Amino acid sequence: MSVPGDDVREVALRESEDRFRALVEAAPVAILIVGDDGRIALANAGAESIFGHARSEVVGRPVEILIPSAARAVHERHRAAFLAAPRARPMGSGMELEGLHRDGRTMPIEVGLSIAQAQGRTQVIAFVTDITARKEAEHAVLDERSRLARDLHDAVTQSLFSASLIADVLPRLWERDAAEGRRRLEELRTLTRGALAEMRILLLELRPGALTEVPLAELLRHVADASTNRTPIGLDLRVDGDGTLPPDVQIGLFRIVQEALNNVARHANARGVTIRLEQGSGHVALEVADDGVGFDPASVDASHLGLRIMRERAEAIGAAIVVDSRCGDGAGGRGTRVAVRWPVGDAGGDA
Ligand SMILES: Nc1ncnc2c1ncn2[C@@H]1O[C@H](COP(=O)(O)OP(=O)(O)OP(=O)(O)O)[C@@H](O)[C@H]1O
Ligand SMILES: [Mg+2]
Repeated sequence: MSVPGDDVREVALRESEDRFRALVEAAPVAILIVGDDGRIALANAGAESIFGHARSEVVGRPVEILIPSAARAVHERHRAAFLAAPRARPMGSGMELEGLHRDGRTMPIEVGLSIAQAQGRTQVIAFVTDITARKEAEHAVLDERSRLARDLHDAVTQSLFSASLIADVLPRLWERDAAEGRRRLEELRTLTRGALAEMRILLLELRPGALTEVPLAELLRHVADASTNRTPIGLDLRVDGDGTLPPDVQIGLFRIVQEALNNVARHANARGVTIRLEQGSGHVALEVADDGVGFDPASVDASHLGLRIMRERAEAIGAAIVVDSRCGDGAGGRGTRVAVRWPVGDAGGDA
């Protein structure tokens, strides 16, 4: 015979179970409850979406099916060690593993662990997040950092090294031959100024947001100063008009110029290069033109990234880009021109 108090308790119990289930389902991470036999007792919606398995496919099976086969044995040993001395491990405490998706691909995951006792047995609750995006962002930062380190080495260390060599010999040289001394002093000045300009750009690149704090024309002036340090190519900067650009447009245009100038320095064998920036009311036009050897843009194979990245950057900000190049001999018939046109206030439209 049922006593009224029992009914109330049963309803309360069912409600609390419903609440538990709803909570587990709604959690923004994958939750797996794993028994002391290593088998999955519960998987929530988050686990289904990370690993691609319906929960009916994983409940009752060893948790190692969610791990690439090469790592399973190690995981089993870790699991045994964890059960022997269970201690909660919050997310962010550095437990990063590879997870195995149902379709066979692996992905980096982060796992936090907690312990619960149920019916006298230990259960492990694993909280899992897919950290693919975070890992990619970390790699991008590392790549960027090594690029800056390389630039710093190429651009600044070498200049300062040459400058210090000149400074070493200069006093004796001057005594012997004042004219030559003055010439070397001029060289020393060019080297240190160039190194300073390079430093200025690298510092702008290092500080988040700095590339958009100054007008594009000023950034280009730093680039122009710095490039006189890298190459003996004469650089002419012509600016017409002014105005403020949206940050992504400014950065996109700046990077395109940087890459175009890199190409001039590396491939063009040019005597001169001109950067033109024209900011009118309806558009921004930017051009890097050299008088070097030229090339055939149609026959650049896919292993080269620079031109492709320039095009992608232009597309990303809704600008049109043209790469013109001629390798003919004689005056007027040579050189490369990279021209970008961004339609003001109509990003994404035709330029
Ligand atoms: N201004 C230029 N003058 C002469 N040749 C050029 C010029 N710009 C590009 N090229 C030619 O086009 C090719 C492709 O350039 P791209 O920038 O795409 O790749 P890359 O400079 O070779 O390598 P990276 O991927 O490091 O940029 C170069 O290898 C070069 O032959
Ligand atoms: Mg290049």
